[in-house]
Amino acid sequence: MTPPDHYAVFGHPIAHSQSPRIHTLFAAATKQAMTYEAEDVPPEDFEEAVGRFIASGGRGLNLTVPLKELAFRMAHSVSPEAARSKAVNTFLVSPDGHIHGDNTDGRGLVRDLTLNLGIPMRGQRILILGAGGATRGILEPLLKLGPAAVTLTNRTAEKALQLVLEFEDLGPLKAVPMEALQDPPYDIILNATAASLSGDLPPLPEHILADGGTCYDLAYGKEPTPFVEWGLQHGAAISSDGIGMLVEQAAEAFFLWRGIRPETAPVIETLQRAR
Ligand code: ATR
Repeated sequence: MTPPDHYAVFGHPIAHSQSPRIHTLFAAATKQAMTYEAEDVPPEDFEEAVGRFIASGGRGLNLTVPLKELAFRMAHSVSPEAARSKAVNTFLVSPDGHIHGDNTDGRGLVRDLTLNLGIPMRGQRILILGAGGATRGILEPLLKLGPAAVTLTNRTAEKALQLVLEFEDLGPLKAVPMEALQDPPYDIILNATAASLSGDLPPLPEHILADGGTCYDLAYGKEPTPFVEWGLQHGAAISSDGIGMLVEQAAEAFFLWRGIRPETAPVIETLQRAR
């Protein structure tokens, strides 16, 4: 019997990562001989840890906070989405040691929104809160879906303006300062700030969500995030956290590694039941 192929997720911290669980479920469902582990890797140890992993026969990695930009710089080749976002969350390692970097976060979000939650994106008015790495990773796939407009707003306004400069060739994109957020309602509001992680919520005007609109928090936790609660209190037809995106971005990585697309619905359900 051929020995299993080795995969891992690197991040710092990593203890609460759900990735080993997700990939183990994918591997069992698709009968793939592989192992998947989580390793706590601080940024200063990143290159050495990747070298060690590859030397020991590792075939692929997931990279999470705070390693995605470092991973982008270390990859030998990158996908167009990773090049745009300047961030990599997946390494595919060839037998000769070549590292190909991809960023599956945006595709994962789009699959969760459109396929799992059934939200049409074409012609929609989308507001994104935050202008950090998470926003960078989702702009290209979102703009490709043909929204009416994507508006960025961020606590530090200049960072939103910078993203507009980098991505406006892909579609209708603009930046609005948080304190000036009042205009027409938005059909979809995405929270891509790190605020949920500390139990915070960016300040939002009362009537900013269109009737029956969607709120989606890229973060997730055991309890509904403050932004998911905000959506429920402000008439959202759907107010979801990012557990589906987490599973979908993992499925995209799994597909890259194994050439097989695992079913995501049972895994999302398992994760939802476990909290
Ligand atoms: P990530 O890679 O997760 O996006 P990041 O690059 O540090 O992390 O970006 C975090 C985002 O959350 C930023 O948009 C940040 O706003 P600033 O650019 O002003 O720092 C935003 N953010 C973090 N905490 C926040 C809070 N309490 N309220 C509003 N925005 C917050």
